[in-house]
Parts: sequence; structure tokens; C-alpha cells
Amino acid sequence: MRHFSTLLASGAMALVLATSCATNSGSQEVTLKDAFKDKFLIGVAINNNQAWGRDSLGTAMVKKHFNAVVAENEMKCERLHPKENEFFWDNADRFVQFAEENGMYPVGHCLIWHSQCAPWFFVDEKGGQVDAETLKNRMRDHIYAVVGRYKGRIKGWDVVNEAIVEDGSYRNSKFYQILGEEFIPLAFQFAHEADPDAELYYNDYGMNVAGRRDAVVKMVNDLKSRGLRIDAIGMQGHMGMDYPTYEEFETSLKAFAGTGCKVNISEWDMSALPTLTHSANVSDTVAFRKSLNPYPDSLPSEVSAQWNERMAGVLEVLLRNADSIDRVIAWGVSDGDSWKNGWPVPGRKDYPLLIDRNYELKPFLQDVIASSQESK
Ligand code: GLA
Repeated sequence: MRHFSTLLASGAMALVLATSCATNSGSQEVTLKDAFKDKFLIGVAINNNQAWGRDSLGTAMVKKHFNAVVAENEMKCERLHPKENEFFWDNADRFVQFAEENGMYPVGHCLIWHSQCAPWFFVDEKGGQVDAETLKNRMRDHIYAVVGRYKGRIKGWDVVNEAIVEDGSYRNSKFYQILGEEFIPLAFQFAHEADPDAELYYNDYGMNVAGRRDAVVKMVNDLKSRGLRIDAIGMQGHMGMDYPTYEEFETSLKAFAGTGCKVNISEWDMSALPTLTHSANVSDTVAFRKSLNPYPDSLPSEVSAQWNERMAGVLEVLLRNADSIDRVIAWGVSDGDSWKNGWPVPGRKDYPLLIDRNYELKPFLQDVIASSQESK
């Protein structure tokens, strides 16, 4: 397995440690937020169990190691705005309060997304599809209500999520079908009107893919040329053991930074399970089902070593591009929380996050901490 000493070979990491050591004299344990100080914020997506303190061990790890947070689900349209004239704020309010109590950078996720959008959004009073003017008004009302409620408190918003597909064309979402490409500039305009000081982001997955990368760069440059505010591009960073390559990930990172925007790694995780390349219902045999969920008890040590080595490699890419990166955010607190346990196959046991089911940092991060402490 790649040890942290290997990472030290990179000048960027040496700098991290120098900074971390300089600011952490005394016997206190170095935390992730210490280790990455002066590089980027290190954040995590939290659920209600952490926001309300019910997952006491997870909550303690969040407070100890992270300085940015995003709500995994509670600010999505279907949760906040389930009916046209009905809002549900309790969990989102608690999330913002949690961030403030703990001095963390709160990210708002997400305003306009084809998925987890409340169904009423696209339906008119006769049950048909809304016209363009109505959808535009609903977008404005939704964005004004949500961004307005947290004005000055949520510091940055994922304004549009997942609008471009791999070949570079626009996703054929309801937003696109009804409003065409204009739904994106409109969303950024409305978000800026609702809170002129908030940072605004475009966020997407599979950003290593050349077609999507080029289209996102073009779309962001178009927003900028219209004078619209966009501060950062979010590379979600949902990864597997065989994708993306470090090279293509870094190529995209640099291409996005080339627009003048910052880059956020907004939803980092790496599945330790085999990537599915065929449909799950091809042959529903016991052997096939077992191959889908190969580590139901624990992750074998050789797979864990490979996973940690690959994560250390990604971290190396992030550190050498740290000048372009504002935040790196893990998509969930500990492995048991991860959406990857339920997708793309329900009921799998995956190991994709920075913290394991025993609330221990994964080895590649323990190496970061240990090396920081050694050089104190
Ligand atoms: C996307 C979304 C996230 C989350 C993940 C997986 O990446 O941006 O909010 O829903 O899918 O669940």
C-alpha cells in the first residue's frame, strides 16, 4: 500500500505538513482539518442523525475532523418544497444551525436538479405539463424561498446539478424539455438575486469524461460571458476501483480551473465493490447475486489495501492542484451511511468513505495524521 511517506515526495504534501506542524505544537492529535489547513477545506455530507446528534460517534467525528458540511438530502426540492405552497424547513434549519454551532462552512445542495425534485413542479392544475412561463416562475419562487431563508448563512449553493450528459449534450430533463438550455442561466440569475453575496456552483458527476468536461467548460464560459455569477465547478467525485484514471480526473480539474472558477470536489467517495458493467437482471443466479455483494462481512485486507492506495493517489492529485480547489467534501460520514450500500444494487455492503463502520479514519488518512504527528 502507498504510505504517506510516498505522498511526502510531493512538494504539495510537504507544505501541508510544514503548515500543520507549525500550527499544531503541543500534544493535541492532528485532525484532518489541521492536516489540510492552507490547502482546502475538508468537508462531509451529513444526514439527520448527525445534524440532530443521534449518531453520537459520527457527530463527534464530524466535529473533530471537518470544517465544511453539506446536507446529504434535506435541502433538496422534494424535502423542502413537497407541495407548491408547502415548505418543510425543520431539518434544513437544524443543518444550518449545526454548521454555525461548529464553525463549519455550510454548503447548500441543491436548487435545480432533475432528480429528487417534487413532482408538482412540472404539472399544471389540469394535470398536464407546465408551460415555460409557469416553470420559470416556479423556479424563481423556489430559489427565492430557499436561498432567501438562509441568506448570509449558507455561504455557497449548488445551483444546478447534473445538467450535462457524457456525450456533452444537455440532459433531457423536464427543465430542459420545457425551458431549453436557458434554465441554467435563469437558475444562476435567480440565486444571485436572492443572495448577492452567496457563492454559486455548477455540480455534476463523471466529470472526467471528455464530452461532459468540454460541454461544462463551454456552458460555464457562456454564463460568465453573460455576466452571471459562478464561483466554482463541483466535480462530485463518485469513484470506483477502476474509474476514473488519475490522469483524466486531473485533466478535467485543470480544464475547470482554466475557466477562472474554483473547483470543489463536492461528493467524494470510492466504491470498493466491482463496478457493474452489465444489467443486474441479466442472470439472477445465486452466484451472480453473490458476485454483486462480494464482501458482506468485511473488506478483505488486500482489497482494503488497494482501496487505500487508490484514495491516496487521488489525494495526491488533489494536493498538487490545491491552488485551484476550495473544498473537498466526502459524501457521507461513515461507511454505513453511504448511498453506495443501496445503489446501483440495493442491499450491498460497500466501504466507500473516509471513516469506517467503527468510526475510525481509513488507513490512508491515518497515515496523513501519523506523519503530521511524527514531524511535530
Ligand atoms: C448525486 C447528488 C447527491 C446524491 C448522490 C447519490 O450525486 O448530487 O445529492 O443524491 O447523487 O445519492
